[in-house]
Amino acid sequence: MTTSFDNAAQVLTLPEAGLTYLRSNRANELRLEPGGITVEHGRISALEPTSDADIHIDATGCALLPGFVDCHTHLPFAGWRANEYEQKVTGVPYEEIARAGGGIRSSSRALNETPDDTVLAQAQQLAGEMLRSGTTTFECKSGYGLSTAGELRSLQLATELAEIVSQVTTRTGLLAHAVPDGYTTTTWMDEVEKMLPEALEHVSALDIFVESIAFGLDDLDRMGELATQNGVLLRAHVEQFTTMRSVPVALKHNARSLDHLSTIHPDDIGPLATSETAAVLLPGAEFMGAEATAPARDLIGAGAIMVLATDGNPGTSPIFSLPVIVGLGVRRYGLSTREALLAVTLNAAYVLDLHSDLGSIELDKRADLVLLDCPAEHVAYRLGRNPVAATFVGGQPAYVRPDAAWRIAEK
Ligand code: NIG
Ligand code: FE
Repeated sequence: MTTSFDNAAQVLTLPEAGLTYLRSNRANELRLEPGGITVEHGRISALEPTSDADIHIDATGCALLPGFVDCHTHLPFAGWRANEYEQKVTGVPYEEIARAGGGIRSSSRALNETPDDTVLAQAQQLAGEMLRSGTTTFECKSGYGLSTAGELRSLQLATELAEIVSQVTTRTGLLAHAVPDGYTTTTWMDEVEKMLPEALEHVSALDIFVESIAFGLDDLDRMGELATQNGVLLRAHVEQFTTMRSVPVALKHNARSLDHLSTIHPDDIGPLATSETAAVLLPGAEFMGAEATAPARDLIGAGAIMVLATDGNPGTSPIFSLPVIVGLGVRRYGLSTREALLAVTLNAAYVLDLHSDLGSIELDKRADLVLLDCPAEHVAYRLGRNPVAATFVGGQPAYVRPDAAWRIAEK
């Protein structure tokens, strides 16, 4: 079956074919030109429309972009923590919330008490919201299990989620998130090592939360070794609240990404930016938690592979819309539209190691596409408004907003 996307006001394409990533200081080379594309058997077959198609998409006035890639979420989880948010904004200190049983431990209790089908139903509902916001690929993480059985169940549920959502998904073992009761960081890392053979059946990456209240640099070092030994990617939550100097340790292990970076030490910006480790910035968590602002302009100026993601989770960032994250990122970090779009497409696909297959409008790549009802510049500018008219996964319309249905015509 052939589908032709006709007459778009803007089509986002890269300066070269076959890029693994594009350093964000080259984002101004992204093209947003009028045009169209042809899709055959779920893949992009021409960078121009064709009159000889089974289905025509009238993209008049629209921007046609690669589907958004959310490379950092904490799906699946159970329930929400709205009460904590109200406490947080009205001035209750985080330590007090945590002492009262809140934070990661509260989501852990919820997950452990909630049956599988209920957890999956919530995650599936959120995946639907994400699809309607243009997300065609997302990452899942464990991390709320806080026991071997809990972590493995969480990964099993993430694997099952893949079967019931429209999107492409990946799984990351965030096996060191909070230190479970009765363990030290070291004895918990021993458990991580023991559960690894089973966890590896599900995951393409390992992750760890390096923070004064969580794991330390030695644990990061050990997670890095485990990732390398087992041929999976290393990712890490670092420099979110405390400047721990995690960056040099993670770079030693060629981490695929370092995420948060709100309090990165100035001396670590250069080495990170010149490495092949992506800097994943999470402006939703920064905004909702009144956290420090990551030095995005310095990272970009130094040549970083800059990425934006939702960090979607029930605590620090209950936001699952990449258009909202683009809007927050543009405002907080002073990003151009092209820098922000690169950060939620090709560079995000690189973090998930899916860049060969998706993340850009390029010949032979998956036809995962998002059609906006406005110019791409409006995504950030009209903050909070959903600009998505339709989302296509593997060339098929997976979501069409009712007022855009007229755009799709079968021959
Ligand atoms: O990425 N920083 C650690 N983990 C999550 C928050 C998890 C939670 O509060 O439930 C994050 O922000
Ligand atoms: Fe996170």
